[in-house]
Amino acid sequence: MSLIKAENLNKTFRIYQRGEGIKGYLKSFLSRDYEEVHAVEDLNLEIEEGEMIGYIGANGAGKSTTVKMLTGILEPSSGQIEVDGRDPHKHRKKNAMNIGVVFGQKTQLWWDLPVKESFKLLKEIYEVSDEDYEARIEEFDEVLQLSDFWDQPVRKLSLGQKMRCELAAAFLHHPKIVYLDEPTIGLDVAVKERIRDFIKKMNREKDITVMLTTHDIGDIEDLCDRIVVLDEGKKIYDGELDTLVNRFTSRRLVMDTRGTEPVELELEGIKEINQDDGHVEIVFDREVISASDLMREVLDNYDVLDFQIREPDIETVVKKVYNEGL
Ligand SMILES: Nc1ncnc2c1ncn2[C@@H]1O[C@H](COP(=O)(O)OP(=O)(O)O)[C@@H](O)[C@H]1O
Ligand SMILES: [Mg+2]
Repeated sequence: MSLIKAENLNKTFRIYQRGEGIKGYLKSFLSRDYEEVHAVEDLNLEIEEGEMIGYIGANGAGKSTTVKMLTGILEPSSGQIEVDGRDPHKHRKKNAMNIGVVFGQKTQLWWDLPVKESFKLLKEIYEVSDEDYEARIEEFDEVLQLSDFWDQPVRKLSLGQKMRCELAAAFLHHPKIVYLDEPTIGLDVAVKERIRDFIKKMNREKDITVMLTTHDIGDIEDLCDRIVVLDEGKKIYDGELDTLVNRFTSRRLVMDTRGTEPVELELEGIKEINQDDGHVEIVFDREVISASDLMREVLDNYDVLDFQIREPDIETVVKKVYNEGL
């Protein structure tokens, strides 16, 4: 059985039109003048234990709403959710012991407390033994370097330091699942890297299932084999990142050759050949012809000085999916 299972999941928000002033505000309650926003529509999703999936989509696609339903914070308008055999909204408390959550824009730490006191509280809440606690904090510290600011109150931390704490807090009790909603937003490259290393380590070594929502394609490339793309509340892709990339873009073989005569290559899978003196660019479909087969043919026909295979850039692919759909 899947660890996370959502069936025909829907969340519709009603937005009431507000008039001017108090009168208008009161009237809006009476007049039932509202618009409906279908934040999540008929979503079916299954996630297996140990997976790390990237949940991506444009702003307002419904990613956070999905995470809020899966964590039990929001009740679905219709449909079913089972997380580790439980309805997360009906069994919020039990579910909470089983999961960790990071919402990029919010903090779950205590603002005025020193970091170490916040962690002691979490230790009590999640009933982590002394022994586990010490071992884990030490391990977390190696990657996230929490000791840099262990005694400081949370409110004094920089965004990057805060996020390192949030990550550690979400994984402290070794939950079955961790939901990360935009954990790298606004962070510099060095902190991002640290955080990615940490997530990877927790997923691989502790087998903790991770659902990651992000705008950062680098996060996805680095961490996720499987991605789910959401567009206006609907799932438009669920599968391997590579497959998506292959479907949407071609690879290019770029080379410098001796000789300037244009060469005709009659090969299936070649989409385009652009030649400018010795500089040649061949656009090809990797699903039809492999790079090595293409290279063999090329070496028979050109006097190659130098070559390079250019991979498509994932950001472009994802933008294309958003814009054109599948
Ligand atoms: N509490 C709410 N009340 C009304 N509309 C909401 C609420 N939360 C989200 N929405 C709307 O639902 C849609 C999806 O939002 P969200 O899940 O936050 O998207 P994402 O996280 O992908 O950016 C948006 O149109 C948003 O304005
Ligand atoms: Mg969001």
